[in-house]
Amino acid sequence: MLNVCVIGCGRAGMIHARSYAGAVTGARLAALCDPDEEARTRAGAELGVGRLYASWEDALADDDIDAVVVVTPTGLHRDIVVAAAAAGKHVFCEKPMASSEAECDEMIDACAAAGVKLQLGFMRRFDESLQHAHEAVLAGEIGDVVLVKSLTHGPSKPKEWMFDVRKSYGPIGEVSSHDFDELRWFAGSEVASVYAIGGNFRSPEVAEAWPEWYDSFAMTLSFADGKLGMVDGAQYVQYGYDARLEVLGTKGSILVGRQPRESYAIARADGTVVRPMNNSWSYLFREAYVREAQAFADCIAADTEPLVTGHDGKMAVRLVQMGLTSLLEKRVVFDSEVSGA
Ligand SMILES: NC(=O)c1ccc[n+]([C@@H]2O[C@H](COP(=O)([O-])OP(=O)(O)OC[C@H]3O[C@@H](n4cnc5c(N)ncnc54)[C@H](O)[C@@H]3O)[C@@H](O)[C@H]2O)c1
Repeated sequence: MLNVCVIGCGRAGMIHARSYAGAVTGARLAALCDPDEEARTRAGAELGVGRLYASWEDALADDDIDAVVVVTPTGLHRDIVVAAAAAGKHVFCEKPMASSEAECDEMIDACAAAGVKLQLGFMRRFDESLQHAHEAVLAGEIGDVVLVKSLTHGPSKPKEWMFDVRKSYGPIGEVSSHDFDELRWFAGSEVASVYAIGGNFRSPEVAEAWPEWYDSFAMTLSFADGKLGMVDGAQYVQYGYDARLEVLGTKGSILVGRQPRESYAIARADGTVVRPMNNSWSYLFREAYVREAQAFADCIAADTEPLVTGHDGKMAVRLVQMGLTSLLEKRVVFDSEVSGA
């Protein structure tokens, strides 16, 4: 039985903690860690966990813990993951992996040197519909892949700290890391160049104070092997949480994603049909999170490579940085390692 400690009991942390508290075979939630006393005790009471740590250093010193799930604010990921590896713990780390590629490298190297697993939190790779679509692509059902298109629109109002896009990256980082990972996964190739345009369409009141703030962007991408990519991202769309993928091949296409939350629709006497819109990533991908946690436990038990690696986390960080540079500097940005440009 794998003893897991979830570090960070916020929005995403509680999703992981609930998975390990009963839904994962071969693993159990042994401890929780959060410096915020209220978050920590609320999580412990909900999930029946008595071993609660206020500091991640103390959690890592616990010899009974075999693996940690790092779900703190992104700025802390590097320090915790490097120390966890040194303490011999297997690591699951949420996306974005870190604040820079150099930090990602440190995390990858630390886990490799310690011989522990490192899995990244791109849960869409465990979504059943996306997995079926990916298998269809590999089976050649749509011929050769020509174009991979992905969009993510989030409903929430941007928080004040996000307006400084040089630090937050804006929606390219906050909303679209998952799209970049999906594009790489479906294309089976690395991105050679990106071009992004964007604008502030929903918060004109902050335009003067934060002229670089954008709430929507459109990006085109080219892959090393010649495939094409497109990502459309938006924040504060208000109508719901919307994530969809389309793959165009030489002999067909695949669509994944739906807007309604449920499969029922209400037809009314006024001639309209009403279907409740999905409004949350945690609902849309609820089963994917459990399958992701199971895969983490399984790769440790079987001593196999995680399905989503530190390299995947690092490449998504790179694409976020390239995307923001392109948007701010209004130019195509090339990955010199991939494109040779
Ligand atoms: N995979 C996804 O779809 C997804 C979704 C949401 C968030 N995330 C990522 O998960 C991470 C957390 O985001 P969130 O939305 O849950 O944030 P959050 O603010 O809701 O929760 C963060 C928690 O970490 C705790 N924390 C702060 N400092 C800590 C420390 N030193 N040690 C331990 N815990 C500490 C906070 O008290 C808080 O409870 C971020 O990296 C975010 O990008 C991923």
